Amino acid sequence: MGRKLAQPADGVRGTAGPSSAVARVAAVTSYTLRKASPAKTRADAVVIGVHATDGKPVPAGDGGEEVAKAFGRSFGALLARMKVTGGLGEAVRVPTGGAIASPVLVLVGLGEAGATTSETLRRAAGIAVRNLGNASSVGVALPADDVESVRAVADGLRSGSYAVQRVAPAPAKGAKSHRRAAADDGLAEVAVLSDCARQQACRQAFETALVVADLADVARGWVNTPANLLGPVELATQMADLRSEGTKARRAVEVEVVDDDELRRLGCGGILGVASGSARPARLVRLTYRPKDATRHVALVGKGITYDSGGLTIKPGSSMTTMKTDMAGSATAVAATYAVAELGLPVAVTTFAPLAENMVSGSAMRPGDVLSMYDGQTVEVQNTDAEGRLVLADALAMAAELEPDAIVEMSTLTGACVVALGERIAGLFGEDATVNGIERAAAVTGELFWRLPIPESTLDAIRTESTIADLLQHNWVRWGASSWAAGFLAQFVKGREWAHLDIAGPAYNSGAAWGHTPSGATGFGVRTVVEYVAQVADASQG
Ligand code: BES
Ligand code: MN
Ligand code: ZN
Repeated sequence: MGRKLAQPADGVRGTAGPSSAVARVAAVTSYTLRKASPAKTRADAVVIGVHATDGKPVPAGDGGEEVAKAFGRSFGALLARMKVTGGLGEAVRVPTGGAIASPVLVLVGLGEAGATTSETLRRAAGIAVRNLGNASSVGVALPADDVESVRAVADGLRSGSYAVQRVAPAPAKGAKSHRRAAADDGLAEVAVLSDCARQQACRQAFETALVVADLADVARGWVNTPANLLGPVELATQMADLRSEGTKARRAVEVEVVDDDELRRLGCGGILGVASGSARPARLVRLTYRPKDATRHVALVGKGITYDSGGLTIKPGSSMTTMKTDMAGSATAVAATYAVAELGLPVAVTTFAPLAENMVSGSAMRPGDVLSMYDGQTVEVQNTDAEGRLVLADALAMAAELEPDAIVEMSTLTGACVVALGERIAGLFGEDATVNGIERAAAVTGELFWRLPIPESTLDAIRTESTIADLLQHNWVRWGASSWAAGFLAQFVKGREWAHLDIAGPAYNSGAAWGHTPSGATGFGVRTVVEYVAQVADASQG
């Protein structure tokens, strides 16, 4: 299948243009884990946690106590005066007046002491990092002295510091290169101050969090990039280029970019049907990671609609404005794969990212058309806006052909899922073992999933309600649209273990930043999918 290509075909390179200014945020901040006293640490700011205990603010952990002691008896009065409550979500900045070595103290609320979880710490760290004023160096002394909490704090700090990059102006005609963005004068040094800083397990947890958060940021960058700058060809190029960026471990990932001619030869009628209305050709990115010590094989599949206008079943204008984000599933799957390689997890991973743009034109697919998919099944199209399931059908069938132990598919698939669960919770469908595996992973990462059913009657309807094709894509019944979509995908996994993650809500935060989640693209799913693969690795090593 496809040509083995480290990079996409000639003529593809260089077309990405200014998109890279959005997609690639230079890592200018350094993160270190250190055993040091927050009172004696010299930085622009120091962060401590504050619990709310019996309605009173109480400095959290050894770090909090130490800072409080350095302030002496005035500390309680300072907290009262600044109306510090220790409530979750609170961040208060106070000048230290020389009481500790750093000039600014940031007090971050952690809620009740007994109720602190790693998700509390992750969110508090994210809030802290967005409340540093103009500090360029910070020492973070949140209560984190074990593997789990160190990982959460590192993750929250790294995740919360993401800022959407403005699009750089396109180069003027004839210019050699386009203008560089102004030098970044933001946060340069983050030191996490922890008692377990010298323990190997804590150092490793710290590094793991940074690797995963780094790749989640890459996914965010792709999702935030406008569709005029990032079509299927450009996205495929960037997905392939990621292999040679970052650490050498990423080169363990083999990349193939399947072009539209090859997709035609392969019979990928779903991907080609969706792409047929666009001036931009489709691509399929396939990543292969085969560590020597692997005994399990996981396939990842991600929806990559670089823009979803709805096609002939066109969306109302207001629903279209955020549809550059409709490739979030593919961004998640690809970013997660590189993270798995970078962590050297002993599980084989094969990842499929079908990339297409859903547009309107004289060559667009019509409601009523019948498409023939990669596995030979025919599909009657009823709604061109239900395009995700069409590109995923080809990719899932290819994944199933490899007979992996599990298929994990992720997609911004249905608005109905957002109606059901809101913007912060993903829908979770599939077979028990894989679904339970995702739930176990999510319990570690703090990402929220809620299981939804695929009723037998829905599967029946999908298989029987078309009179001219094997499967009916959509039935124009408003109710249960997310389950219909999931049931349609189920027709292509060939009875294998699988999970479908409908991330239409949580992939994009249309409001302000909260916890460690930025406004805009969230990178939702990268952390949980990587943790899922890590848990598969642990289980397979006995
Ligand atoms: N990309 C959309 C789903 C979506 C909606 C993602 C809102 C993020 C936010 C998907 O392709 C779509 O249009 N789904 C349709 C399905 C319907 C035709 C059954 C929808 O949700 O309306
Ligand atoms: Mn759509
Ligand atoms: Zn879509």
